[in-house]
Amino acid sequence: MKQELEQIKIYGLSAIEKAVDEKTLNELRVELLSKNGKLTAILRGMRDVPAEERPVVGALVNEVRDAIEGALKVKEEGFINAKLQEKLKSEQIDISLPALKIPHGAPNILEHIIEEVEEVFMSMGYDVVDGPEIEEDRFNFELLNIPKGHPARDAQDTFYIEDERILLRSQTSPVQARTMLAAGGDKPIRMICPGKTYRRDADDATHSHQFMQIEGLLIDKNISLADLKGTFDEIAKKLFGEDVQTRFRPSYYQFTEPSVETDISCFVCKGKGCSLCKNSGWITVSGAGMVHPNVLRNCGYDPKVWNGFAFGFGAERLAMLKYGISDIRKFYQTDLRESVVFDRKEG
Ligand code: DAH
Repeated sequence: MKQELEQIKIYGLSAIEKAVDEKTLNELRVELLSKNGKLTAILRGMRDVPAEERPVVGALVNEVRDAIEGALKVKEEGFINAKLQEKLKSEQIDISLPALKIPHGAPNILEHIIEEVEEVFMSMGYDVVDGPEIEEDRFNFELLNIPKGHPARDAQDTFYIEDERILLRSQTSPVQARTMLAAGGDKPIRMICPGKTYRRDADDATHSHQFMQIEGLLIDKNISLADLKGTFDEIAKKLFGEDVQTRFRPSYYQFTEPSVETDISCFVCKGKGCSLCKNSGWITVSGAGMVHPNVLRNCGYDPKVWNGFAFGFGAERLAMLKYGISDIRKFYQTDLRESVVFDRKEG
């Protein structure tokens, strides 16, 4: 019996050693250690062993079982380890490869100039408000003193959506009317409204069927053109430099009386004359004026008590002037090589 045990041990250990995979190893485990295995068969024969030899044989059985179990374990760990190594190898990440360059975004320059204008006006106590781009004729024209059939409507070739009643706003001025009506006719107002506007213009270097305006409105008591001039001075200096001069030229808008064009002295040639200012020394940056009494009345404000001023900047025009951009279409194209973005770090 002792011999048999020795043989099982020798056979088992060498078979385990030679096993090529886990499956063979499992088969050997069954063959050697299971209920029907070789070692159990020997144990069954213990009955026939003389009582005095049993402890010796028993100890030997245990020793053989331990040796086989130990060898199985070592071999099994070997297989697991090899598998792991293989997996690690196949999933290896080459950390020496240069990383992919992901370009990070920058705000559109238009966005940037609007933020700049907002900041200047907010520092003067203005609210930034929003209005709908799909607008009613009443807000875009009628309440602003431009009745149906008025020739001024032709100047703003409008995209109508529904039977001349619903349109894409051709200016941000309707937000003036909306703000006054919402305020109820008894409160002062200071607001600016940057937003998209639409006109049936053929696109070229200075025209776009969609562009941005920044509307402004101040309503209070005893406001004069001098207040508008002071406000315009402030924004011109903040945007274009402290040494910039401003001037008003008479103009005409239906919703203001008197109306003006607001000019700044050319910040490139300092007024001497250059290609930017077309040798005039001045650049026009917005339309403005004192809010027309009809508009005040239409929007619930008593013109005997309240008055105020309004203005409208073209945002693209501001950005084109300030950053020397020659073509308005550049703001709207999606080709990154050509589009105009603002680098906050440099700015
Ligand atoms: N809405 C005018 C335009 O599109 C610009 C404008 C001029 C707005 C004078 C105003 C203003 O509020 O007072 O040409």
